[in-house]
Amino acid sequence: MKRREFLKNIELVGIGCVAGGLLAPVITSCGGGGGGGVSTQEQASASTSQLKMPEPPFKYVELDPAEVASLAYRSHYANKKINNDTLKGCAYGTFNAIITALAQKVGFPYTVIPTALMNYGRGGVLSWATLCGALNGTFAAVQLISPNPEDIIDSLNWWYSTTSLPTYVPTSDDVNAVVNQLKAAGKSDDEIKAYQTAVQRLSTQANKSVSNSPICHISVAEWLYANVDSNNVPLWGADSAEREERCARLVASTAAKAVEFLNQQIIYKNFEELPTTSSAVQSCLGCHGKVGNPEAPEELKRDDTRMQKGVTCTNCHSTIDPNTHPFGG
Ligand code: HEC
Ligand code: HEC
Repeated sequence: MKRREFLKNIELVGIGCVAGGLLAPVITSCGGGGGGGVSTQEQASASTSQLKMPEPPFKYVELDPAEVASLAYRSHYANKKINNDTLKGCAYGTFNAIITALAQKVGFPYTVIPTALMNYGRGGVLSWATLCGALNGTFAAVQLISPNPEDIIDSLNWWYSTTSLPTYVPTSDDVNAVVNQLKAAGKSDDEIKAYQTAVQRLSTQANKSVSNSPICHISVAEWLYANVDSNNVPLWGADSAEREERCARLVASTAAKAVEFLNQQIIYKNFEELPTTSSAVQSCLGCHGKVGNPEAPEELKRDDTRMQKGVTCTNCHSTIDPNTHPFGG
């Protein structure tokens, strides 16, 4: 067999000898010793050249933040039954929106990135409530796209932690699309009604909240406690359709912000990095961090936290009074 024909076959099937079952009748030399026309090495390089991904950063063209927000909102509610598990969520939502928008405008390599990669990120990594999935998904996309991803990732963390969210309001097209998705996923009428009620409540009565943290658990809790009854009891629980809708809107807002930053950095060259550390945190880290504060007394300095960036320490260390600590109080 001629080499050209061999390559053509690989192109048709996609991969070389791995798909042995399919290629075997055509390529007798596959995996076997010596009989046919192509050596094993040649096969390997031929098949890898077919599959070669470019090194990041991948090509970027300007995206419309509003379009990506809508796509992210819908992606958050994408329900795919895999192994009886309902996969949906925040990390997939932001990642899928950005990668899909670029697959449409740029094509390869975005067309071959499996966006289900980010399914693990939902609920702050499978409900461990660590890093917010909306952020996790955008970070992965930014890492593939930006020539200087750290600046955007830091800025997204800061923006997310300091902004009153969520700001996105779904269009009626968004809501209809989600209703159809939920129907297709076999959701009951009650569940669909709960979604529609949540959309209405979020648009008319829910308060936004500032998380002061990129951590899922803190971010969700701050929102729940921004919406309480007269006895200070949250109106909606963490399992409610309202909380889900809050996160879907947050996903849309976060994907849009990431795209805004990418446009500024790559297309308009006017991106300005946001801060990474508040003055309050800097003052704590003056003693507890690597950074060090020249004004802190030498004998009090320690280096006992990995945390080097952030908005506040006292949302967790609530018993520390910055005015008196570490002296009594
Ligand atoms: C002037 C230096 C200094 C600064 C500034 C400082 N600390 Fe400390 N911190 C100390 C020292 C020294 C100790 C250990 C003293 C002790 O064991 O009570 C300590 C202990 C702690 C501890 C463990 C003991 C405890 O009380 O829980 C925490 C947590 C802590 N600091 C958090 C913070 C936070 C948050 C900030 C910023 C609001 C901060 N620190 C600012 C010097 C400092
Ligand atoms: C997400 C919650 C969280 C945030 C934010 C946080 N911490 Fe902590 N930190 C903890 C927990 C939990 C521990 C371990 C238990 C404890 O000592 O309270 C700890 C431990 C510490 C200790 C060691 C305490 C000791 O007794 O030795 C210091 C010092 C400390 N943190 C300082 C900081 C500083 C400074 C910041 C801000 C830059 C910060 N932490 C932000 C949760 C947090």
